[in-house]
Amino acid sequence: MPADLKCKIAGVEFANPIMTASGCAGYGEELAQIYPLSNLGALVTKSISLKVRPGHPPPRTVETPGGLLNAIGLANVGIDRFLKEKVPFLEKQKTKVIVNVAGSTIDEYVEVCSRLNDCSCADMIELNISCPNVNEGGIEFGTSPKLTEKTVAAARKVFKRPIIAKLAPNVTSIAEIANAAEQGGADALSIINSVIGTAVDIDSWQPLLTNINGGLTGPAIKPIALAMVSSVYRKCNLPIIGIGGITDYKDVIEYLLYGATAVQVGTALFVDPSAPLKIVKDLKKYLKEKKLKSVTELIGKVRR
Ligand code: SIN
Repeated sequence: MPADLKCKIAGVEFANPIMTASGCAGYGEELAQIYPLSNLGALVTKSISLKVRPGHPPPRTVETPGGLLNAIGLANVGIDRFLKEKVPFLEKQKTKVIVNVAGSTIDEYVEVCSRLNDCSCADMIELNISCPNVNEGGIEFGTSPKLTEKTVAAARKVFKRPIIAKLAPNVTSIAEIANAAEQGGADALSIINSVIGTAVDIDSWQPLLTNINGGLTGPAIKPIALAMVSSVYRKCNLPIIGIGGITDYKDVIEYLLYGATAVQVGTALFVDPSAPLKIVKDLKKYLKEKKLKSVTELIGKVRR
């Protein structure tokens, strides 16, 4: 009998633990032209804010050794166009949908969350309190335990389904922020968003990103993310979705052993949009070889 890949977070059941990371598959339309989204555990949308955001002018991505620096600036269609233009497509997909929500103020988070209540395809929301690339909002809410708790609690008051808080690595103690998110009423955590970084052109002496700083993602940050998942797993009770440098099934296993219940694949999608399909296939093979009945048997099983 094939091993069971199903996993559950806050009562929501996923066909497998492989999700797309926010911002790396837009609203799913392009990926669905390559393979049915039912192959994914979940599709996580690009952040949705109250108003349309054009984001930063290009260049807003730069490749670095083992990684990608981005300063997109939360470019997105805004909640009105999301509900009108993107939701009809998402409603037809046979996968779970997690809507990532961004705001410049707590009131903005609240308004977007409350409007998503009527959107039945939003199985969960992921609160983006960790974007390093905007002057207002983003990481500002996720680097202070008090503001984290306040923002999550405000969203919790209005949104009726489970809430995931997406945490920043650019903090002194991610476990402290995780506990604040739990206090505020979060049901799960996504760990981690990108690591602040920059790069300079040595001929022009100008930064390579218009925003100067960006967020580093990809294999270069995997060890950092794993250590943060491990720390939060030991100090906080909420289920964890691991993010950072996942390119193959071995990365997924590392995250699960350190305590993640599921993972998100981000930067790898730009190299190979089909990476999740290969990961799912190889994960099944690994579980069979190890004689495991369910992928959940790996969670937190690292031998210390
Ligand atoms: C961006 O849009 O600049 C990246 C989003 C994020 O890091 O949360």
